[in-house]
Amino acid sequence: MKILVTGGAGFIGSHTVVELHNAGYTPVIIDNLYNSNREVLAGIYNIIGKEVPFYEIDCNDERAVRDLFEKEKFDGVIHFAAYKAVGESVEKPLAYYENNLMSLIVLLKVMRDYQVNKFVFSSSCTVYGQPNELPVTEDTPRQPAASPYGNTKAISEDIIRDHVISKPGIKAIALRYFNPIGAHSSAEIGELPNGVPSNLVPYLTQVAAGLRKSLTVFGEDYDTPDGTCVRDFIHVVDLAIAHVKAIELLNEQTISDYYDVFNVGTGQGHTVLELIKTFEEVNNLKLNYNIGPRRPGDVEKIYAQSDKVNNVMKWHAEKSLADALKDAWRWQEKITKSV
Ligand code: UD1
Repeated sequence: MKILVTGGAGFIGSHTVVELHNAGYTPVIIDNLYNSNREVLAGIYNIIGKEVPFYEIDCNDERAVRDLFEKEKFDGVIHFAAYKAVGESVEKPLAYYENNLMSLIVLLKVMRDYQVNKFVFSSSCTVYGQPNELPVTEDTPRQPAASPYGNTKAISEDIIRDHVISKPGIKAIALRYFNPIGAHSSAEIGELPNGVPSNLVPYLTQVAAGLRKSLTVFGEDYDTPDGTCVRDFIHVVDLAIAHVKAIELLNEQTISDYYDVFNVGTGQGHTVLELIKTFEEVNNLKLNYNIGPRRPGDVEKIYAQSDKVNNVMKWHAEKSLADALKDAWRWQEKITKSV
């Protein structure tokens, strides 16, 4: 079964390509390499021992996407390709709305025209904002997005739902990711942030590698066990496997206008300081960090209730926070050496 993976050279996309292959699917990557690079393809090759077809295509280029669908005969699409930097989205909202929404619309149109009927979308727990009750279930009301990036995820979910309801013959799942971290245990693929990382773990590993001076912990006066924010950190390989399970659920699904959303988290919250301590322990090193002010727009605490994904998709997070932080460090050490 052939699955198009848009953004397949990216962090979550590349790990999903590997897991699709491991599960017997034939992944095909499109990526415009805006926030990724070709070396990822070599990393994937080193893990699976096989070249995955790659096309340098922008999902907004409808002509190119149509030509590809004409050529490749896909059975399903997993759509990762999107801009994802929260801060940048505040500075460039139009770029975010244009890129993230237009690419989705192009794909859905072309899928309809070529009768490709399985669609999995990368959404985010950002759609919940700061929820009133924890853990969040899929029924927890969405809240107005704190950033244009977050809003593109909420609007995308609505576009997919409305499209499915109009009976184009597409079955779709939106996966609401919590905080993906880690890398493949082989250290062949991992996160490759451009410039100064804005996310916690890539920044932290760069400090540990001596590439940056100190990690600033954003705020220690939150209403949490140690005053720092709480997040549900999920190993990227577990998250990748959830996409394979989503495709399997769509394969089995007999309702032709099926659309559903699933939280994909471990169900466990950890504070930023807990993560730092775990990183130090499992990798046997000391991290240089300092406490700074809160970062505007951060939610205090959020973690998933994962019963739905556990029961319906038969997916469970297998890897621990310690596993993810060991793998993230192994990957950082490898890329530091290769620079
Ligand atoms: C954000 C988005 C999420 C998106 C993810 C990946 C929101 C609310 N969340 O998650 O949707 O999928 O980015 O792009 O929009 N921290 C520090 N120091 C740092 C960096 C981070 O203390 O240098 C803290 C943050 O304050 C936060 C935690 O670490 O409490 C995690 O931050 P980060 O990795 O940036 O992810 P989120 O903001 O949770």
